[in-house]
Amino acid sequence: MRTSIRGAAQVLRPPEDGLPYLRRPNELRLEPGSVTVEDGVIVALEDDPGADRVIDMDGGAILPGFVDCHTHLPFAGWRAEEYEQKVTGVPYEEIARGGGGIASSARAFAAARDRELFVQAGQIRAEMEAHGTTTIEGKTGYGLSREGELRAARLGREICERVTGLFAHAVPEGYDAASWMDEVDSLAAEADVDALDIYVESVAFRNEDLERLGEIARREGVPLRAHVEQFNANRSVPVALAAGARSVDHLACLHPDDLAPLAAAECAAVLLPGAEFLGAEELAPGRALADAGAICVLATDCNPGTSPVVSLPLVIGLAVRRYGWSVREALAACTLNAAWVLGYGDRGSIEVGKRADLILLDAPVEQIPYRFGRNPVFEVLAA
Ligand code: NIG
Ligand code: FE
Repeated sequence: MRTSIRGAAQVLRPPEDGLPYLRRPNELRLEPGSVTVEDGVIVALEDDPGADRVIDMDGGAILPGFVDCHTHLPFAGWRAEEYEQKVTGVPYEEIARGGGGIASSARAFAAARDRELFVQAGQIRAEMEAHGTTTIEGKTGYGLSREGELRAARLGREICERVTGLFAHAVPEGYDAASWMDEVDSLAAEADVDALDIYVESVAFRNEDLERLGEIARREGVPLRAHVEQFNANRSVPVALAAGARSVDHLACLHPDDLAPLAAAECAAVLLPGAEFLGAEELAPGRALADAGAICVLATDCNPGTSPVVSLPLVIGLAVRRYGWSVREALAACTLNAAWVLGYGDRGSIEVGKRADLILLDAPVEQIPYRFGRNPVFEVLAA
């Protein structure tokens, strides 16, 4: 089956083929053009009038499918009551003491049948896809027990393209950080995951646990990722860089001295403006990171606590406004750069030979952040 998508006002293309990521995304090209795909692969950057199907773009834009490299799928239910408490001024400690927070999602996860989790995740995936996401990473982390975490990893395999073991998400009852890290060590050896992740924060794990997870990740031969500097500057970035992390995520409280070393490293800065906005968190230094040439990435952080967000166009709108990014900077951050975080070289940009994960927009890309909250995606072609 050959499909020709012709007459776009903009086709998003990298400055050259074969680049793993972009540190200067303003080099991205947005020119009029056409794309032809066959059997799930991009075969030409021109139209083919003889194709089995011809789609007339009538002035819209052709982009690579979005890659959402940081979500917390699978999870059970939502925590809308908690959000209302949060915005009306109930302190987090009080919400947590009342049984809220990660622990409440862990209880819901334990109580839910596999089928219920699949149904909820399937609905979320469909919403994400309707907004242009064609590749999704998910994490464990709501299992909060050995069996629960193994179950989360197993279910995640059915739901997401990539599964990250966030075994060190919260310290389960009956453990301290160090003794739970012993369990994390054996879970990492046993579970089928593509990367390892940890939540470093005063209420969760410490820099020394991050260092240890770095050793575990090296032993297992999988990339290390880390939730760091979300609510406090714990100076976890130098620790993550020394451990060879593939990404550091959140960074709302990044210490100014850690910005230049991060920007120079082959480690992505994964920014999560949905969580920052809904949690009234500090703002990650997105502009300064981009100016310093960091590998900048955007994701939804879709989870029932801090970011029940599914739409990457919405996240792009937040990033452009709040970080002062150009549209090209935001687009690179949820296409090629996000694919690199997940270790995918076969997607994230429109190049002959890459997967035909394409999204078709009914308007030029400048409208994505500008018509904030509107979904410009009218068709998704996923290989
Ligand atoms: O990425 N920060 C830790 N983990 C999640 C939130 C988890 C929750 O509140 O359920 C995050 O923001
Ligand atoms: Fe997260």
